[in-house]
Amino acid sequence: AAQEYPGNLKRQVEKLFDASLRSTVPDETGVQTEVTASLPGKPGDYQCNNAMGLWSIIKGKGTQFKGPPAVGQALLKNLPASEMVESCSVAGPGFVNVILSSKWIAKSIETMLVDGIDTWAPSLPVKRAVVDFSSPNIAKEMHVGHLRSTIIGDTLARMLEYSKVEVLRRNHVGDWGTQFGMLIEYLFEKFPDTDSVTETAIGDLQSFYKESKSKFDADPEFKEKAQKAVVRLQGGDAIYRKAWTKICDISRAEFAKVYQRLRVELEEKGESFYNPYIAKVIEELNSKGLIEESEGARVIFLEGFNIPLMVVKSDGGFNYASTDLTALWYRLNEEKAEWIVYVTDVGQQQHFSMFFKTARKAGWLPESDKTYPRVDHVGFGLVKGEDGKRFRTRSSEVVRLVDLLDEAKTRSKTALIERGKDKEWTPEELDQTAEAVGYGAVKYADLKNNRSTSYTFNFDQMLSDKGNTAVYLLYAHARICSIIRKSGKDIDELKKTGKLVLDHPEERALGLHLLRFAETVEAACANLLPHVLCEYLYELSERYTSFYSVHQVIGSAEEASRLLLCEATAIVMRKCFHLLGITPVYKI
Ligand code: ARG
Repeated sequence: AAQEYPGNLKRQVEKLFDASLRSTVPDETGVQTEVTASLPGKPGDYQCNNAMGLWSIIKGKGTQFKGPPAVGQALLKNLPASEMVESCSVAGPGFVNVILSSKWIAKSIETMLVDGIDTWAPSLPVKRAVVDFSSPNIAKEMHVGHLRSTIIGDTLARMLEYSKVEVLRRNHVGDWGTQFGMLIEYLFEKFPDTDSVTETAIGDLQSFYKESKSKFDADPEFKEKAQKAVVRLQGGDAIYRKAWTKICDISRAEFAKVYQRLRVELEEKGESFYNPYIAKVIEELNSKGLIEESEGARVIFLEGFNIPLMVVKSDGGFNYASTDLTALWYRLNEEKAEWIVYVTDVGQQQHFSMFFKTARKAGWLPESDKTYPRVDHVGFGLVKGEDGKRFRTRSSEVVRLVDLLDEAKTRSKTALIERGKDKEWTPEELDQTAEAVGYGAVKYADLKNNRSTSYTFNFDQMLSDKGNTAVYLLYAHARICSIIRKSGKDIDELKKTGKLVLDHPEERALGLHLLRFAETVEAACANLLPHVLCEYLYELSERYTSFYSVHQVIGSAEEASRLLLCEATAIVMRKCFHLLGITPVYKI
């Protein structure tokens, strides 16, 4: 069970019901307390759903209760007194509805305003985690799938970091395949003087890859050379090693441009890093009796799969699976990670299930998949173009990610200029806002849908200032900031001295939603689902709009309290932006 911390409202309600449950049915110690947030339109804020389940356990045991509603009544009666709770009632077959005290909600927000939003951070039962994300392949293209992995992985890393987990952000770059033999030989042919080769000389590494591939397919002599080159490279030949480094460096510089634009931090430990450990790890699996011979290759048979997992190819070489098994071994034993998260497209699901299963059979991981040390494959769907097919540019080439991000920025700048912002702002302000909005739009469009579904890449939609878009949300935040500025009040002073009152229904609904921030982040983290946080953020701005459209802030009798509510909303929005990797804007 996750630990307790002041921010998590749901857990606090749960704690009250825990106590009530233990005194209502002292003998049923194994029963888990079930508390959920009530659906909109229902009488309570939270509800306890245990009555029916409890009834089915105790009814045969000569209980004094006459049915689930009576159990619900008892749960209500035994609830410890708490300033959190305004009132309770029992509905239907024993649901206990709780209405929270508006005073208590207000007080909790006031405390956050003074102590900071980090006091609302979840606490997870893990000290160190690995998030394996982005992970493009050297010399091959970095495609939109890698962009999705980069965006989703960064958000998951941010949520874990916010929850005080030390995160090793790993770029598991594909830098060790057989393609290197061919690339290196081609490099030698085109540039006999390898030292002088620069990025500009090679030009586009993707076309370089294609050229060498056609030569490989067409020219048997070249093919043979390339195959020998792999052996020499993997055997540690200095000249081949140097050429390999060169090619990797050029690719790396290209990837870095994308990471730098997105402000995503990653530490590269590519496939080659694990090479020195593979033989030993495979031997360990062998000594546990997991490995069998099959058609010259060495494989692992697993129940529930109709093909075995190949770990040594028939030519004796290692592959993707043996590298991943070794990386897992390294992360568990050398890096002491307790939670390892892999972000790739859903197409790789089978690979992950198979090698996770192998690790369980080897005794590296517990049998049950939610216990630590824990591994998760975070799979995501395709990015599609308007034509419903895999996203490509007009030239039917793969999309260059850098161009894509640049276009998002250019389009958002154009929109700002159309609104006359170039006359109001300095060129730097214009540029920074265009960047925050443009990149934010690309990220948010990716994150807002359940990751396992595919989505259609559409600039017009993602850059619209209406609907569930980053633009709409960033503008909503900027507007709140501008209200606070216009009030002329010193908001930091107000935080210390002001009082928050949530007398009106729209104020209360907004306040309650603010308090649900922590449990939302915790759920998004536990289930590795960033869209849960996006939904929360969108709902927050909707509730803010409902509040603002009926209540005057500046110049009203409740001005101080309402400014505090504005400030708390802005703070929570900014934390959401931060967790989603989006840069907030303050002016619009
Ligand atoms: N390089 C792989 C690809 O582009 C992704 C690697 C994901 N990470 C891993 N440990 N397998 O498909």
